Amino acid sequence: MNILILGSGGREHSLAWAVLQNPKCDRLIVAPGNAGIAGIAECAALDIMDPGAVVGFAEEESIDLVIIGPEAPLAVGVADRLRESDILTFGPSAAAAQLEASKRFTKEICDASGAPTASYGHFTDAVAAHAHIDATGVPIVIKADGLAAGKGVIIAETVAEAHAAIDDMFGGAFGSAGAEVVIEEFMTGEEASLFVLCDGTDILSIGTAQDHKRVGEGDTGPNTGGMGAYSPAPVLTPEIEARALNEIIRPTIAEMTKRGMPFQGVLYAGLMIKNGAPRLVEYNVRFGDPECQVLMMRLGAQAMDLMHATADGRLAECKADWAEDHALTVVLAADGYPGDYQKGSVISGLDTCPEDSFNMVFHAGTTRANGQITATGGRVLNVTARGASLREARDRAYAIVDRINWPEGFCRRDIGWRAL
Ligand code: AMP
Ligand code: GLY
Repeated sequence: MNILILGSGGREHSLAWAVLQNPKCDRLIVAPGNAGIAGIAECAALDIMDPGAVVGFAEEESIDLVIIGPEAPLAVGVADRLRESDILTFGPSAAAAQLEASKRFTKEICDASGAPTASYGHFTDAVAAHAHIDATGVPIVIKADGLAAGKGVIIAETVAEAHAAIDDMFGGAFGSAGAEVVIEEFMTGEEASLFVLCDGTDILSIGTAQDHKRVGEGDTGPNTGGMGAYSPAPVLTPEIEARALNEIIRPTIAEMTKRGMPFQGVLYAGLMIKNGAPRLVEYNVRFGDPECQVLMMRLGAQAMDLMHATADGRLAECKADWAEDHALTVVLAADGYPGDYQKGSVISGLDTCPEDSFNMVFHAGTTRANGQITATGGRVLNVTARGASLREARDRAYAIVDRINWPEGFCRRDIGWRAL
């Protein structure tokens, strides 16, 4: 098969790495890719936000399956256009991608399907939103309705912070994403993520993960896209996972089908777990980054078969075979991230790192220039390892981190601490 993966992050590097292990893959192109991906697959310059350009490219290159990594092309209908042209595609329609692109839409789906989640109010004007905050008090969670690159959620501890967040959002701090605002009950508990493939009818759970969102050790400091992750998530026991599937995922999928927008792709459910009961925090309609890296490390070659079956409506005949193992990934980021950071510093030592089915350095924000790898993003490398235990996976990952020489970068040294 000829496969095209859209995206340029560590998530897409790990997807490419898994696909390449499958003998059914004859040719792999990643658009636009990055320096790490270029080491294992063909990279192509392609505007992945232009559905017409993606369809034209896929037809020209005789692509049999397109795997869409990030949410932005999904939200603009790239999957719709590919399917209209009879090209097998892994990723939901723009209508189904509203599960990530609109917080209000997701809350309405939860209401209609009875999926447990935080109670909420939905506002299109600041006056009503301010009044709601005065009536409910703090802590409270304020969310821009639309896609805001992970920055549209404010957890307000004081009433003043809550009012300021409302003013910011309606004042345009998040652009059109903040024209509508959802205000939610603050939920306590432990967070974990569940990843479920859906082919429009059937579902298949492909694993659990936990990430570290805060930049600092001990989960302190500002939020980031994720500084590390591990799989499985011990808090998501088989019993709680079964509850999440039955009480949250299946009702959601059924409601989407009922509304004429069947979900096809990977549904990534962020869950809050308390007293053995899961509640939905949010959905994403794509793999998490860096959660994908640990899932791919554990799934290996079968990941491609599962994504192919998802695109083809054949999930009912599939199962995921898990080794009893653990994977952990450590994110190396540029000094200053998630604030301002410099681009262009040189990373060395990568050629001394092992790359096999237990150890991989996935690239997130790198470029190759004059034979050297340089950092061109905030999150730059994802050092990922697998082991019989989480401790073994962690020790392997940090042994690789210590081989990498990048004075302008940093990482957290405590990834996995909660589970260990
Ligand atoms: P989101 O961008 O929706 O993933 O939210 C970012 C993070 O904010 C989540 O991963 C949670 O840690 C936190 N969060 C969002 N909604 C709530 C809520 N209702 N209660 C508690 N924490 C929340
Ligand atoms: N690591 C969080 C995300 O991909 O949304």
